[in-house]
Amino acid sequence: MCGIVGYLGNEETSSILFESLKRLEYRGYDSFGFATIHDNKLWITKDKGKISDVVQIKLPGSIGISHTRWSTHGPPSKINAHPHTDCKNRIALVHNGIIANYLSLRNKLKERGHIFKSETDTEVLVHLIEEYYKPEDGVKLEDAVSSALNAVEGTYAITVISALEKKIVGARKESPLVLGIGNSCFYLGSDISSFLPYTNKTIPLDDFEMVVIEPESYKITDFRTGLLKDKKITKIEWNQKESSKEGFDHFMLKEIFEQPQILKIALNICEEEISKLAETIKEADNVYITATGTSLHAAMTSEYWFSKLAKLPVRVVDSSEFEEKAVLDEKTLVIGVTQSGETYDTLRAMNYAKKNNCKLASIVNIPSSTATRISDITILQGSGMEIGVAATKTFTTQLMILLRLALKLAKNNGETVSSPTMKNERCLLSKDVGDKISEIEEQLKNVPRYIEEALTQKEKIKSITEKYCINVKNFLYIGKGINYPTALEGALKFKEITYHHAEGMPAGFLKHGTISLISDDMYTIAFVPRDDRKILSNVEEIKSRGGKIIGIVSGTAKHFDETINVPRVSDIVSPLVFAPAYQLLAYYTAVALGRDIDQPRHLAKTVTVE
Ligand code: G6P
Repeated sequence: MCGIVGYLGNEETSSILFESLKRLEYRGYDSFGFATIHDNKLWITKDKGKISDVVQIKLPGSIGISHTRWSTHGPPSKINAHPHTDCKNRIALVHNGIIANYLSLRNKLKERGHIFKSETDTEVLVHLIEEYYKPEDGVKLEDAVSSALNAVEGTYAITVISALEKKIVGARKESPLVLGIGNSCFYLGSDISSFLPYTNKTIPLDDFEMVVIEPESYKITDFRTGLLKDKKITKIEWNQKESSKEGFDHFMLKEIFEQPQILKIALNICEEEISKLAETIKEADNVYITATGTSLHAAMTSEYWFSKLAKLPVRVVDSSEFEEKAVLDEKTLVIGVTQSGETYDTLRAMNYAKKNNCKLASIVNIPSSTATRISDITILQGSGMEIGVAATKTFTTQLMILLRLALKLAKNNGETVSSPTMKNERCLLSKDVGDKISEIEEQLKNVPRYIEEALTQKEKIKSITEKYCINVKNFLYIGKGINYPTALEGALKFKEITYHHAEGMPAGFLKHGTISLISDDMYTIAFVPRDDRKILSNVEEIKSRGGKIIGIVSGTAKHFDETINVPRVSDIVSPLVFAPAYQLLAYYTAVALGRDIDQPRHLAKTVTVE
């Protein structure tokens, strides 16, 4: 993963880079580093740890690059932190991605006398650039960078400086890099949030593009061919106030409590956008949704909505498995669901679909991200910036959008049948289903209020965590049907921030093996919606074996050691109202355990590597 920032302008670069890099810490936070140019020399500082724990970075110069790392090759350490430099200490480089052929390149470069200091794959790049860099013969930094990039395999977003030139060179392949255009200055960043307080004018780079920024100008080329690219400047509207905690102890808590407000925004995403994607779904012969992590759980929930409401078989495939599993042709629609729009596995799946001539759609939170640029149609979530690594508000927004799509399709089916010329009779909406759809639509409008109500349970949830969740290290999360993905997401939230073991599964599956684990050190969290009686027999099976159970209940069931009540809604809407309860359960447990809530160990918010 990693976050990259570059600045070239009239100001002292290190303080701008310092502030900008803190905004990218969600991308990795095990070490950091800075390089600037001053007096024809490189000035470098780097260290292990978090940039947010540093009070100030002071380096001279108004051209510089910086990096916050999520380690892949080589553990977090001062030496492995970026920037990396060449043997002559003239070139400094930061990198996000993985250089696949680094070992063979490293051996060749060593044979040619290069001295390596770190264990990273990245360091080969800077030595390779050094090999090609001959300023005395008129070979400029960008020429050397293109030659080096044409010799490496893998994924990268890089920024490079040389002590001998007043410029920054940036390039990308399968890892994000965006250019920011300010007043007499330029920025480079892994995403727009890094420079948004300074400028909202941006050009996202595409694969194989290289940008050279100099004091008065910038130039974008294809580094494979050297041809100039003509790219449009986009203006981004984004509310920066969102990056403050606004009185909450953690970003995650703030984002959990923002959900009622954010879901109102999702309810207001214009009907035309929903209809356009619904039409595209209807026209396709096959529909896949691909996603990973929390976004996958939103997609899996929608699989039930599409089948139950719209009678539409949609296949949901984890994006890291997509190429192995999907059967694609030009009549297939593939929808990528991705908060960041930059997740490597999801982009890879989407690009694979594109290569197979599929139509491509996406549901994405970050405007102008790569997923939006490769898609034929995008619905932007409008959830605002989410800083906590554990996704909360972006997840419930995805649910809301997907449910609106399924409802739209269900209603279209009804309309289809009312026309005698249409053949799609099996989709006729019976009165029962029609009534159900009106009830769901009514409930959907009230979801922000239901979530507000669910959030009032916070003190109770906190006391339950203190009693049940701190000393026990294993949890089963069970749900049935539409709440099987709820169980998966509940368990994922818990694992991500408490570091305790949690496993989500269909309630019915429990008795086929896992029930053998029920003990004093394995408690169960059960999701019980209004209309579900069946899950209660699974609950009894656990109780009769002495297992402790916390019920998260959208109804009246009272079969549990502890009960967290959320508003009574239909099964269909229940995944939305269960979310704040299990998010808070994970949050308060992690707080009591003293975990790093917003930046849990080993994780990053946007995973841009394989
Ligand atoms: C990472 C994050 C998760 C997120 C997943 C997919 O693993 O830690 O919170 O759900 O990536 O991210 P996306 O941006 O594609 O939704």
